[in-house]
Amino acid sequence: MVVIVKNDRVKKLMKLGPRLKTIASFVPRGTNLADIGTDHAYLPVNLLQQRVIAKAIGVDNHRGPYESALETVRAHGLTDMIEIRLGNGLVPIKKGEVETLVIAGMGGKNILEILQSNPPVMEDIRTLILQPQGAEEQVRVQLLLKEWKLKAECLVAEEGFIYYVFCFSRLEGYSLKDIESKIKKLATDLAEFCGFWEQVDLDKIKAGGIESAGADSINEESSILLKYIWKLGPLLLWRKDKLLLDIVEKTIEQQQRIIKSMTRTKRREIEQAAKGLQAEIHVLEGIKKWLLQ
Ligand SMILES: C[S@@+](CC[C@H](N)C(=O)[O-])C[C@H]1O[C@@H](n2cnc3c(N)ncnc32)[C@H](O)[C@@H]1O
Repeated sequence: MVVIVKNDRVKKLMKLGPRLKTIASFVPRGTNLADIGTDHAYLPVNLLQQRVIAKAIGVDNHRGPYESALETVRAHGLTDMIEIRLGNGLVPIKKGEVETLVIAGMGGKNILEILQSNPPVMEDIRTLILQPQGAEEQVRVQLLLKEWKLKAECLVAEEGFIYYVFCFSRLEGYSLKDIESKIKKLATDLAEFCGFWEQVDLDKIKAGGIESAGADSINEESSILLKYIWKLGPLLLWRKDKLLLDIVEKTIEQQQRIIKSMTRTKRREIEQAAKGLQAEIHVLEGIKKWLLQ
């Protein structure tokens, strides 16, 4: 077992699961890091022990997790290097203190709100590592629209769940324009597998177009396809990430379950909504075939 010896006290290396390990792998060496929603502070403790970073600030807005974080840091003898602060989002951070942010394990909408909670602090941020749970496409699109570059996106499986991890950078990675041109190529390939020949509407490839795709475009399979390319992840589709198949299959099952529950009702709007879900399943089946080829 790996141990760290400091001041004659033996400290165990903080072990991370696959999700936090993946997040840790994107943290640039030597950076000043803030971990927002740090909970037990496992991530900063591990990064300090591994000497990836020299200093960290952990923030949590709930007293229970804040106290757990303080306790972990104390128990590992790292109080000089990790500061734990109680507060909302970026509010407890001062301008210039950090240039890397990790925000993991919370809803995508909450992450987007946190990113707006202290604009002066954001001016200094060079790397953003985000692990949203839900609303992943909104996180991806909103940051690209704000001229962040998507340096990497990956999927990681842990205890039966699959998580998205994004690394955005100010300087390196794919811009919105780069992603849109990848989507154009993907949409052309995938349309054939989904069995429709109409030209995919290129205007809808634009990030802003995803909001309108879906419920109101029941008969427009190309809109549904574009929605799912943004949702599943253009870079992940580009490299046919192995875990995508799992996500696609689970989404199909979920939609089928909803349709089944809907067939008990005969109301016209419900029938219409079921038709929309059926169109989504059709597109997802096409994506599945394409992933398997
Ligand atoms: C599920 S835990 C995730 C912990 C850790 N980041 C991880 O990924 O394993 C989410 C934590 O974020 C904290 N949190 C949620 N919203 C927050 C906010 N606006 N500001 C600071 N902390 C927040 C919660 O109190 C909780 O401790």
